[in-house]
Amino acid sequence: MHPTSRPTYRSTASHQPKRHVMTDEQLLTLTPDVAGLEKAAAILRGGGLVSFPTETVYGLGADARNDAAVAGIYAAKGRPSFNPLIVHLPDMAAAETYCDFNETARQLAGAFWPGALTLVLPLKADAGISKLVTAGLNTLAVRVPDHRVAAGLLRAFGGPVAAPSANPSGKVSPTTAAHVSAGLGTRIDAVVDGGDCAVGVESTIVSCVGAPALLRAGGIPVEALEACLGHPLQAPHDPATPTAPGQLASHYAPRGKVRLNAPYAKQGEVLLGFGPVDADLNLSQAGDLTQAAARLFACLHALDAMGADAIAVSPIPDHGLGRAINDRLKRAAAPR
Ligand code: TXA
Ligand code: MG
Repeated sequence: MHPTSRPTYRSTASHQPKRHVMTDEQLLTLTPDVAGLEKAAAILRGGGLVSFPTETVYGLGADARNDAAVAGIYAAKGRPSFNPLIVHLPDMAAAETYCDFNETARQLAGAFWPGALTLVLPLKADAGISKLVTAGLNTLAVRVPDHRVAAGLLRAFGGPVAAPSANPSGKVSPTTAAHVSAGLGTRIDAVVDGGDCAVGVESTIVSCVGAPALLRAGGIPVEALEACLGHPLQAPHDPATPTAPGQLASHYAPRGKVRLNAPYAKQGEVLLGFGPVDADLNLSQAGDLTQAAARLFACLHALDAMGADAIAVSPIPDHGLGRAINDRLKRAAAPR
């Protein structure tokens, strides 16, 4: 059992990242059943921080209406405060109470929610969302996750949950409760353990403010979105479209140096393979992009655990989920 002697949920002031001292205090792990979800919802209501599984990666959730709670997310992650957060909701009706949907947004939400798609939409003036969530923008990123545990928590809580990925800023995103616990430990109040994330890369982000534009490749392939709309999305970083602030160049980084498009490893390098290659770790021996996406972050965590200082990565085809995988790998390889 976990210690029950924790003080009531920490006030904002104590959400400052803790200094690293050796302690046997462990992160409270909750079970993904009714009792665990009720407890998690109670922590959120009290202004605390709870990590929970989604189909993409584990999120670090807080009540999106509570400034102090949202400030706690930034503090726990060590995240630059100009980077806005995604709000998670149980369904489209809930999302419509916070932002304005146009025809394109309705079409995409209808086709892909619940699922790994985040829509950036105009924020309703009286929505009551903390300004720390939007980093002062007049738009809001919303998503309806396709995960039994996330959906159960959102229903039990009954309000908007702001949640970035549950990793220290700049580090590899978590796809298991153990990754969350290793990265954030007792800087947060609890993690709901729902096993491995099936998709394994973060949601695709599309701005529906003006012409629909791709802000981040992710779990829903761009090809599927374009097929639904019947026309191409505007490219990221098109000067005519808003960008996702905080798309920092170096991100998702393991500790070792990363070299991409490597057919084989040089001396001293560990090979992260894709397809039928002789590799130390393989994203997908079968060359399956869905399997590779699901395994990507777990492999990067495993490379850290192995102490790899130099990592070579096999070429990955740049279509479907391969686009999201290559986007994350390029950031992992960017100068830091
Ligand atoms: O799959 C996911 O999306 C995961 C799970 C937990 O849902 N969440 C996630 O959140 O990846 P995060 O915070 O790591 O990434 C959020 C991205 C950031 O790049 C941010 O800049 C962008 O969303 N974003 C948030 N609000 C925005 C807005 N109003 N306009 C443009 N970009 C926004
Ligand atoms: Mg993230």
